[in-house]
Amino acid sequence: MNYIVTIDGPSSSGKSTLAKLLAKKLSISHIDSGSIYRAVTLYALENKFLSNKKILLEKLVNSLSNSDISLKENRDGIFKMYVNNEDVEDKIRGSKVSKHVSEVAKYEEIREFVLRIQRDISKNKSIVMDGRDIGSFVFPNADVKFYIDASIKTRSERRYNQLKEKEQHLSIREVENDLLNRDNIDKTRKKSPLIIPKNSLIINNVNRTIDDVLNQMLEYTKSIINKKMP
Ligand code: DC
Repeated sequence: MNYIVTIDGPSSSGKSTLAKLLAKKLSISHIDSGSIYRAVTLYALENKFLSNKKILLEKLVNSLSNSDISLKENRDGIFKMYVNNEDVEDKIRGSKVSKHVSEVAKYEEIREFVLRIQRDISKNKSIVMDGRDIGSFVFPNADVKFYIDASIKTRSERRYNQLKEKEQHLSIREVENDLLNRDNIDKTRKKSPLIIPKNSLIINNVNRTIDDVLNQMLEYTKSIINKKMP
């Protein structure tokens, strides 16, 4: 029998890293739902449906329905994001996409487009999916739910360390402001905002090692799954 594990939390809380490692330990697939919103944002920027000032929502949505935005599984069982057959994994992690993605993700039409991809990819398999609305909205009946959090200071340091080699002009203050801005948009948008999903295990991972948190998540998941599927 298949099962679903959801991991929600704010930007740079460590949820994607934990989701990837947990999926590996459980030998099931990992889907990073933020990467789909990031690919849509990249597509909007590259095709000029989005600028600093405005978004051409209707044109973007129409164009998306004629494009191929998909997650493809590689030989090692890892899902990578493609836009019209181009591997965009690197491009979608840059600060330009990060700066605009929460803005794009707040529109209902965009969320519906992404929801279809999320549901299609999860059919007939066990998955760990991470994001902002996975346990609350995308899979409210998921078997196991986590909410991962950390202080803004810790999250900014993590994000800064990830970006500093590729984007040397960035300061930690800019990174912190970007995270605060995204938190605000993600938590206050009308359509499926970031909340702590019902029945989720809340983990604050400040001052904890990845292994320590991962072990806690693994034991918790196994305890639930073993009861459901003895
Ligand atoms: O996890 P991330 O930083 O890659 O996510 C990028 C953005 O995508 C995030 O700022 C908000 C949006 N997002 C969302 O609205 N819902 C999700 N399930 C996942 C991401």
